[in-house]
Amino acid sequence: MIDLLSKFDPLIEQRETLLSTGMTDPFNLVMERVESPTVAICNGQRTILLGTYNYMGMTFDPDVIAAGKKALEDYGSGTTGSRVLNGTYAGHKACEEALRTFYAMDHAMVFATGYQANLGIISTLAGKDDYIILDIDSHASIYDGCALGDANIVPFRHNDVAALEKRLKRVPEGAGKLVVLEGVYSMLGDIAPLKEMVAVAKAAGAMVLVDEAHSMGFIGENGRGVAEAQGVIDDVDFIIGTFSKSVGTVGGFCVSNHPKFEILRLVCRPYVFTASLPPSVVATAATSIAKLMHGADKRAHLWENSRKLHAGLKALGFQLGTETPQSAIIAVIMPNLEQGAAMWEALLHEGLYVNLARPPATPANMTLLRCSLCAEHSAEQVDQILGMFEAAGRATGCID
Ligand SMILES: Cc1ncc(COP(=O)(O)O)c(C=O)c1O
Repeated sequence: MIDLLSKFDPLIEQRETLLSTGMTDPFNLVMERVESPTVAICNGQRTILLGTYNYMGMTFDPDVIAAGKKALEDYGSGTTGSRVLNGTYAGHKACEEALRTFYAMDHAMVFATGYQANLGIISTLAGKDDYIILDIDSHASIYDGCALGDANIVPFRHNDVAALEKRLKRVPEGAGKLVVLEGVYSMLGDIAPLKEMVAVAKAAGAMVLVDEAHSMGFIGENGRGVAEAQGVIDDVDFIIGTFSKSVGTVGGFCVSNHPKFEILRLVCRPYVFTASLPPSVVATAATSIAKLMHGADKRAHLWENSRKLHAGLKALGFQLGTETPQSAIIAVIMPNLEQGAAMWEALLHEGLYVNLARPPATPANMTLLRCSLCAEHSAEQVDQILGMFEAAGRATGCID
């Protein structure tokens, strides 16, 4: 017998070496209790959360919780069926209506996760003989959507408009083209030059899909994302998003103004061949989305937090993923995995949780401490966070 798991031996060895030092496993931390969007108990210690995607702090919103409880009582714990059979409840329709209103678009389709939304929409739109031109730093769910659809995949250099244009020119005449971009790239927290990229894609006759997972709710005047902030949302054919970040629950979606969009419900396999979201989840999502429409004050406070943390970390001497704060994600670049893991653990001891991100999830083999801010972080918490970074940074030798 060939042990099919032996291909993972190098990873197992690397992991065992790291854990043999007695450090806490950074990829297996338990949130023993969660007190609020910004505080949890980890290893028995009160810990500030700076590594969640809870950008708008909706997980403990009283209206959101009340809607979930009511739906649980009224409709039960699950649908036990696909959206195309018995799994479409009034709540799923209401959730799609909330999305149409939020984005001011004609169509919305809800999936079980954002991962499945990318998997489903990308693979259904672009198949054999079509071309997908995508940023090389695209999320795994985008790559998996490409693989499922069997299209020709053409990556271009991260955020490079000229490279996108060059790749588009090389696509054979008459082939179907889908340009896939993200609003915010989640590893470094940088935003895409969507204005220029969408113009280049449209000039080449391509359709455009933008994944706004990390910008929905926060970026843009109405929280519709980077495409809204850069004034090109009307030129984007499909927007993908998730409920697992600013919306504060779980689920994924695609919104569009394309007149033939509704046919996707019958041909998109990751929509058809899986059970629909529980009624309590779509009820919390719909309530949260409706409230996010009026989240201008929260958005302003989140920008303040982002600017303050970015400036503070820079002043302490940390190397950051972006020159200026561009989103709610601020990535601290570590020299290597060992020092990154040591710093991660030192921060946890201080009472701060951040994400340790490592290759292959990161670009250019970087080890990152990814900080993601929440609109519910107070200014005092951000001060505390900076104090923790200073102490942990000095203790591990990451800063002088
Ligand atoms: C850009 C991007 N798209 C899609 C997803 C998938 O979202 P979900 O958690 O809803 O599966 C993520 C998750 O981190 C993401 O970062």
